[in-house]
Amino acid sequence: MLRQGRMSPAQQRACDLLLPRYGVAPSVGAPLDFAGMFGRTAPVVLEIGSGMGETTAAIAAAQPATDFLAVEVHLPGVGALLRRIEAGGLANLRVMRHDAVDVVARMIAPASLAGIHVFFPDPWPKKRHHKRRLLAPAFVHELALRLVAGGVLHVATDWDDYANEALATLEAEPLLVNTAEGFAARPAHRPLTRFEERGMKLGHAVRDLVFRRRDTPPSAARPRDPGETAQEG
Ligand SMILES: C[S@@+](CC[C@H](N)C(=O)[O-])C[C@H]1O[C@@H](n2cnc3c(N)ncnc32)[C@H](O)[C@@H]1O
Repeated sequence: MLRQGRMSPAQQRACDLLLPRYGVAPSVGAPLDFAGMFGRTAPVVLEIGSGMGETTAAIAAAQPATDFLAVEVHLPGVGALLRRIEAGGLANLRVMRHDAVDVVARMIAPASLAGIHVFFPDPWPKKRHHKRRLLAPAFVHELALRLVAGGVLHVATDWDDYANEALATLEAEPLLVNTAEGFAARPAHRPLTRFEERGMKLGHAVRDLVFRRRDTPPSAARPRDPGETAQEG
């Protein structure tokens, strides 16, 4: 279900006026055409759950040679991001209002993304809700398949047990390799959000996870050719 939320008049206006300009419609039956979307061929980064778009817009402004597609279900967030795109003249940023799980499954071609950002995914703190967490093993595998070799999956969360769970999930994914020993230092390109600064004052640790898609899957993940015999020893 797409979240409605309450729209400010400015967000509503932004949706009405700017969605046709900077919004991307869900594609049906074919992967999204990034070159057509951005009018050029450049590395593409997918952001899942861009919220109010503060970080999204700052990163896109700082990296004009990269194209960014933000996917968000919350309409006021989409409106806020549209306003940032317009205000910043960000030709390398587009937004789609849709469920990112469906976008990844049906609209992103394999090995087509230079990066994926998942910043502060909904933590679903109650144990009985953990199954709703986005970074489940099957979805992480789908994400890994969409990355080019060397492409980077970058996750950040301030929720301790989610951070540990995600670290275990990402480390167990054969297509991914950790770029750090455990958690990574915050990469300079991820700006501190206001929400994060507040959390840090309260003593919440923010964890970054930065994993790279392997050039070739480890041999354990490679399906064996028919007729190939197992190596002894
Ligand atoms: C805790 S907020 C973080 C927002 C932003 N990344 C930030 O750091 O401020 C999580 C966001 O993910 C969005 N979200 C959750 N599940 C989603 C899904 N399946 N597809 C797209 N967006 C989703 C929510 O609507 C919400 O805006």
